[in-house]
Amino acid sequence: MPHTEREELTPKESNQLLLPGSHPPMWNHMDSIGPTGLPHREGVPGCSQEGLPYPSNSSELVLECLQQFKVTGTQLQQIQASLLGSMEQALGGQASPASAVRMLPTYVGSIPHGTEQGDFVVLELGATGASLRVLWVTLMGTGGHRMEPRSQEFVIPPEVMLGPGQQLFDFAAHCLSEFLDALPMGKQGLQLGFSFSFPCHQTGLDRSTLISWTKGFRCSGVEGHDVVQLLRDAIKRHGAYNIDVVAVVNDTVGTMMGCEPGVGPCEVGLVVDTGTNACYMEEARHVAVLDEDRGRVCVSVEWGSFGDDGVLGPMLTTFDHALDRESLNPGAQRFEKMIGGLYLGELVRLVLAHLAQQGVLFGGCTSPALLSRGSILLEHVAEMEDPWAGAARVHALLQDLGLNVGASDVELVQYVCAAVFTRAARLCAAALAAVLSRLQHSREQQILQIAVATGGRVFEQHPRAWGLPGPGPGGTNFRVLLVRVTAEGVKITNQIYSIPENVAQGSGQQLFDHIVDCIVDFQQKQGLSGQSLPLGFTFSFPCRQLGLDQGILLNWTKGFSASDCEGQDIVCLLREAIGRRQAVELNVVAIVNDTVGTMMSCGYEDPRCEVGLIVGTGTNACYMEELRNVAAVAGDSGHMCINMEWGAFGDDGSLGLLRTCFDASVDQASINPGKQSFEKMISGMYLGEIVRHILLHLTSLGVLFRGQQTQRLQTRDIFKTKFLSEIESDSLALRQVRAILEDLGLPLTSDDALMVLEVCQAVSQRAAQLCGAGVAAVVEKIRENRGLEELTVSIGVDGTLYKLHPHFSSLVAATVRELAPRCVVTFLQSEDGSGKGAALVTAVACRLAQMARV
Ligand code: GLC
Ligand code: GLC
Repeated sequence: MPHTEREELTPKESNQLLLPGSHPPMWNHMDSIGPTGLPHREGVPGCSQEGLPYPSNSSELVLECLQQFKVTGTQLQQIQASLLGSMEQALGGQASPASAVRMLPTYVGSIPHGTEQGDFVVLELGATGASLRVLWVTLMGTGGHRMEPRSQEFVIPPEVMLGPGQQLFDFAAHCLSEFLDALPMGKQGLQLGFSFSFPCHQTGLDRSTLISWTKGFRCSGVEGHDVVQLLRDAIKRHGAYNIDVVAVVNDTVGTMMGCEPGVGPCEVGLVVDTGTNACYMEEARHVAVLDEDRGRVCVSVEWGSFGDDGVLGPMLTTFDHALDRESLNPGAQRFEKMIGGLYLGELVRLVLAHLAQQGVLFGGCTSPALLSRGSILLEHVAEMEDPWAGAARVHALLQDLGLNVGASDVELVQYVCAAVFTRAARLCAAALAAVLSRLQHSREQQILQIAVATGGRVFEQHPRAWGLPGPGPGGTNFRVLLVRVTAEGVKITNQIYSIPENVAQGSGQQLFDHIVDCIVDFQQKQGLSGQSLPLGFTFSFPCRQLGLDQGILLNWTKGFSASDCEGQDIVCLLREAIGRRQAVELNVVAIVNDTVGTMMSCGYEDPRCEVGLIVGTGTNACYMEELRNVAAVAGDSGHMCINMEWGAFGDDGSLGLLRTCFDASVDQASINPGKQSFEKMISGMYLGEIVRHILLHLTSLGVLFRGQQTQRLQTRDIFKTKFLSEIESDSLALRQVRAILEDLGLPLTSDDALMVLEVCQAVSQRAAQLCGAGVAAVVEKIRENRGLEELTVSIGVDGTLYKLHPHFSSLVAATVRELAPRCVVTFLQSEDGSGKGAALVTAVACRLAQMARV
């Protein structure tokens, strides 16, 4: 048996962050500092120079300014790697006092079992701005029904947030008793959980020392003290109730613990509210300070302070610096200040004030409100950024700030809000990716199935921008593999790299440079730098192949559209990119379609494997054809592998009768309308979209979601392939189907869930049957070619939809049996299929080349 060895998937990099410089701020030639902390021009108070013509190119100037908020895919990867590095350092206890993140163990050792019972009082401080919440929670165990907690919110006066600590805790004790006074139930022997969302050194479940205040709090005499004790003292001073403070938790921990069990265990808690942070379950043996070698412990990352040691430097804009200078904790919580809700409004305000002072917005006039700290809140930004918000609403919000709102201002302000929000969402995604990589690494698991509990107002009020990624920030993945083919078998090491969407759809040069960068990175990590290795390139797009190392790209498919590639020889483009990178030698020997690679890899073990099939993001097949039937190639004995590119079947209208209006909508919205008709009815990239269009239609008929269209359902690509596979799994109760949909932001009833399930089944069943029909045609063709009564043949298959969907593969097989009864077909699922196959093609090519030389 070939031996397959896998390396971890996530690139680990050193703690050094080298980010390409951001655009120079457009005002750095000026020197006077205005009330926003940013330079501004002299002239009429509140207005830029009188008579200054309103610039006609204001949208260009706004976009230019917003460039600074752009974070590239590479930068995100660097953040992910650097954060991961500092998490690991802190876990190992090697962090310096000015460490980037803190990794605080929380004394929570297991996630809830669902059997917990009893009445509890919860006091929440610090999660949501200047408010304090008291809750009464009744846990009913597994048998009982869920009770909605009762709660009351109290606003903390600003002087209390900045005054003596004792005053703050007295205020909390007072709120507690006011809340309890109003409750009808008995209040003997109360147990209290204290949710305290600031960085703390915990030394027990009920012992926790505040390290430093964050997020607008700065009460004296609390830092360095046990906050549980301070609360106990205050409750005693107040005297009305006898309450036992049993535990103190960070909000991230509370979020993780409160998550309803879903498909996987919930072992990550993520909060984006006033501040931002995450916690996750770490193996206790990895936490140096604990000196424990069994079990797991929940660790609060405290990623808000990431970057306090300067690694974020090149990414920080002038606005970030101004905001930091004016904050209560300059120099601290730099990452949080780019993401947390307390700061997003402030960032928008600083940008708007700057643009007004530059004469770009609001007729060149500011207003006292625009120049005062805190006048734009998270709620406002969320509302203005919402693309469905009417222009009138944005207009009104700006007028409330006393601004002089011109015709083009509304749209430009929306851009500003979007830029600030998008940056925050992307940074947060990169940070979450670091936590997930850490989990994957510490569990030593190739694939991590885990639920992330999310909480906080930034999520709740703004779910659209915060769609969560898996490990690695977005884009399409590609893999670099090192395959050693030896007498003992095949040995594979690989690493996944991502191709961000902007690269997949940018320039061809950029795309190929990125690919070469990743190959070189992989080579370095494998200690193979400087060696000229033979390279096989699995390139899964339609190509006209003129030789083993020559393939003209006919057209892009599957969401790629990089310029200047169609009609070009892909091997040349790759060689050119290698040439642009100095001191790298790579010898491109073969270019192979994924179907061919898959067939080859299975053929290594089963010589009857003469067909390759892919059902993943795209779908396609290849098979061994008689050379005499191939007009384009001379010779009439022997066989040749033909890449069918069956995805394009139907582009001439031959699938017309089968196509529904939903297929037409999906096609219209794709980047290649009219192309790949068969693929769009079968493969993973499109099935979720078909489902979504059907659900939209059913909603418009009033039979689903009570007829209410939600923004969420209007979002393209919310249903990934994985989703279809999950939802149709037989082991799921309808309740779990509901949970999955709710996770996607689609609240629904059980009837709705049943209907969604049926829609998914109909769509995936059609896909499997169409795919089966395609396979039947191929094997029948082989049988006829050879004039056989009966053909026995094997098919190598790869692709996530085929492999992960609970019913897809059996339905394909059943369809083939029905349509091609004279063929006995075995389906072989390939492991690392196409990559190994490409290596085999390359190995054969090298052997032939050597023989030719001899
Ligand atoms: C701040 C706190 C942290 C908390 C987060 C989210 O970063 O330091 O403890 O979890 O805000 O509220
Ligand atoms: C698309 C490509 C094809 C590839 C298939 C599966 O259909 O055009 O070359 O084999 O996807 O990845």
